[in-house]
Amino acid sequence: MEYQKLLIAFCFYSLFVQQSQLTYAGKHLYPRDQAFYLLQFKQGLTIGRNVHYYCDEDTHAKTFSWNVTGDCCEWDGVTCNGFTGHVIGLEISSSCLSGTIHANNSLTKLVHLQRLNLAFNYLDDFPLGNSISELTSLTHLNLSDSGFLKGKMIPPGLSKLSKLISLDLTWNFIQVGQTTLTSLLHNLTNLEVLLFRNVHAPFELPKNFPSSLRKLSLEGTDMFGNITDSQLFHLPNLQVLRLGWNPLITGILPNFNWSFSGSILELDFSHTGIFGKVPDSVGNLHSLCYLDLSSNSLSGSIPESFGNLTAITELRHTGNNFTVSVLSSISKLNKLVHLDLSNNHFQGSFPESIGNLTNIIKLTLQCNNFTVWPTMYLWSLNLENNFLQGPLHQSICDLYNLQVLILAQNNFSGSIPGCLGGFVFLLEKPKWYVNFAEDIAQQIAANKRTRQKKRRQRKMN
Ligand SMILES: *[C@@H]1O[C@H](CO)[C@@H](O)[C@H](O)[C@H]1NC(C)=O
Ligand SMILES: *[C@@H]1O[C@H](CO)[C@@H](O)[C@H](O)[C@H]1NC(C)=O
Ligand SMILES: *[C@@H]1O[C@H](CO)[C@@H](O)[C@H](O)[C@H]1NC(C)=O
Ligand SMILES: *[C@@H]1O[C@H](CO)[C@@H](O)[C@H](O)[C@H]1NC(C)=O
Ligand SMILES: *[C@@H]1O[C@H](CO)[C@@H](O)[C@H](O)[C@H]1NC(C)=O
Ligand SMILES: *[C@@H]1O[C@H](CO)[C@@H](O)[C@H](O)[C@H]1NC(C)=O
Ligand SMILES: *[C@@H]1O[C@H](CO)[C@@H](O)[C@H](O)[C@H]1NC(C)=O
Ligand SMILES: *[C@@H]1O[C@H](CO)[C@@H](O)[C@H](O)[C@H]1NC(C)=O
Ligand SMILES: *[C@@H]1O[C@H](CO)[C@@H](O)[C@H](O)[C@H]1NC(C)=O
Ligand SMILES: *[C@@H]1O[C@H](CO)[C@@H](O)[C@H](O)[C@H]1NC(C)=O
Ligand SMILES: *[C@@H]1O[C@H](CO)[C@@H](O)[C@H](O)[C@H]1NC(C)=O
Repeated sequence: MEYQKLLIAFCFYSLFVQQSQLTYAGKHLYPRDQAFYLLQFKQGLTIGRNVHYYCDEDTHAKTFSWNVTGDCCEWDGVTCNGFTGHVIGLEISSSCLSGTIHANNSLTKLVHLQRLNLAFNYLDDFPLGNSISELTSLTHLNLSDSGFLKGKMIPPGLSKLSKLISLDLTWNFIQVGQTTLTSLLHNLTNLEVLLFRNVHAPFELPKNFPSSLRKLSLEGTDMFGNITDSQLFHLPNLQVLRLGWNPLITGILPNFNWSFSGSILELDFSHTGIFGKVPDSVGNLHSLCYLDLSSNSLSGSIPESFGNLTAITELRHTGNNFTVSVLSSISKLNKLVHLDLSNNHFQGSFPESIGNLTNIIKLTLQCNNFTVWPTMYLWSLNLENNFLQGPLHQSICDLYNLQVLILAQNNFSGSIPGCLGGFVFLLEKPKWYVNFAEDIAQQIAANKRTRQKKRRQRKMN
């Protein structure tokens, strides 16, 4: 009895599939219809050369090869589920597409779609508008630099895509509008990646963020708000937090163990309106590799706990009001590769202990009040606009790998050390800018090798 029922159901299904070549049956989608919907989608847009700066004569427009023959799962940019045959991915970024994807576009019929990438095209408006909510299986939506016209809105329907894991809206002029970012994010409880960089829309820093977030990029928006009580510091899985270039973000950095202290790799608070002291709790961020605190109004000393950030490779403190010359905590960061302390009020001698950080290849110290020469093994050294005096320090001769040296606006006197005799000097007044050409870098390397050899020979003797 059960067997008979099953058999009947199966026959009915086969019959239906044959008839449904060009029909859409409710919620169900039969693989053969998909080609039809995809072609309809393609027809709604124009493939135009030079419509976008990502589109020139050499750009490969993926939909160009879509045609009535063949299996649509084989088409360029189309991915299907190997078992059911449903289209689950459309990757048609940089495909010279222009036009509007209206709410009635056949794209809404591809209800199994999980990944949709329309980045770097010229779409005028948010694809499908509020009907984007019909693509309920979407996990990855990428609309980076999609050429939306000014004044277009993020549709409220986006907030219904509760399976979204990644949302990329970078480089668009789009309004967040009455749907605040807070309500937009409310139901997106699986969101791990939210990229909003250079979305030019004034909106308030959301009160809450999904705790699933791993990567959050909100740089260069017109976001405003006070960061002090923000839930941002309570996100347990965050690895990347970029808030730079938001001058309307104010407040102080709170002093408690931030929830992401076990996971965070990158932090960028540069060019915002935050002020006050750097809290001791920063020292809990043991896995941090990159920290940018440039151009804020932070002041006081760099906390001792900084010495705990032993994974850090790039540290930017430029353009603050740090005044205290105690930099000893930095000398513990022995993975540092690039240290930028320019435009502060550091005074006196550059700590000798920092000379022990042998991985630093780029040191940027311009516009401070240093009076004593740092000794290190550098590739690039910028000491412009300090208070260095007297003859150039002999240790310059030990900087075997140096290729860029900027010493303008100091108070040097005396002659140039003989070891630099062979180098090309660009004596642009009043700059003393030395740019070692490549062949000279090779010369230094050769010198280094002979010196190392001599040293080794001396040791052996
Ligand atoms: C359809 O596309 C395939 C693959 O790009 C191509 O080989 C074929 O010539 C096309 N057929 C038509 C009728 O355009
Ligand atoms: C789809 O919607 C657009 C804009 O609302 C309209 O211009 C167009 O005629 C519609 N197309 C179809 C097939 O209904
Ligand atoms: C979005 O697509 C562009 C172009 O393919 C790519 O460069 C970018 O990394 C994508 N964004 C995400 C979050 O994957
Ligand atoms: C969140 O989801 C619930 C249930 O699906 C829905 O009623 C509500 O309108 C959604 N909220 C937003 C902001 O979309
Ligand atoms: C930011 O919020 C904190 C804590 O609520 C408050 O003390 C501070 O005055 C606020 N700062 C600004 C600039 O609004
Ligand atoms: C801060 O939090 C991290 C991760 O949750 C933890 O490993 C660390 O011990 C905490 N530090 C302090 C001082 O509580
Ligand atoms: C540094 O402090 C001085 C005096 O307190 C203030 O006038 C100046 O605006 C501050 N600079 C920055 C970048 O915060
Ligand atoms: C962090 O730094 C402080 C101050 O230097 C020090 O007392 C503390 O032991 C350090 N904690 C860890 C876990 O390294
Ligand atoms: C630099 O390192 C050497 C050898 O590891 C050590 O003896 C010396 O005390 C260090 N200097 C400073 C100022 O930390
Ligand atoms: C920098 O040092 C010079 C010379 O010691 C001093 O006159 C000046 O006030 C200092 N400037 C700052 C901002 O500390
Ligand atoms: C520069 O150095 C000379 C002596 O070498 C000294 O007389 C002069 O005061 C210094 N100028 C500044 C601005 O420190």
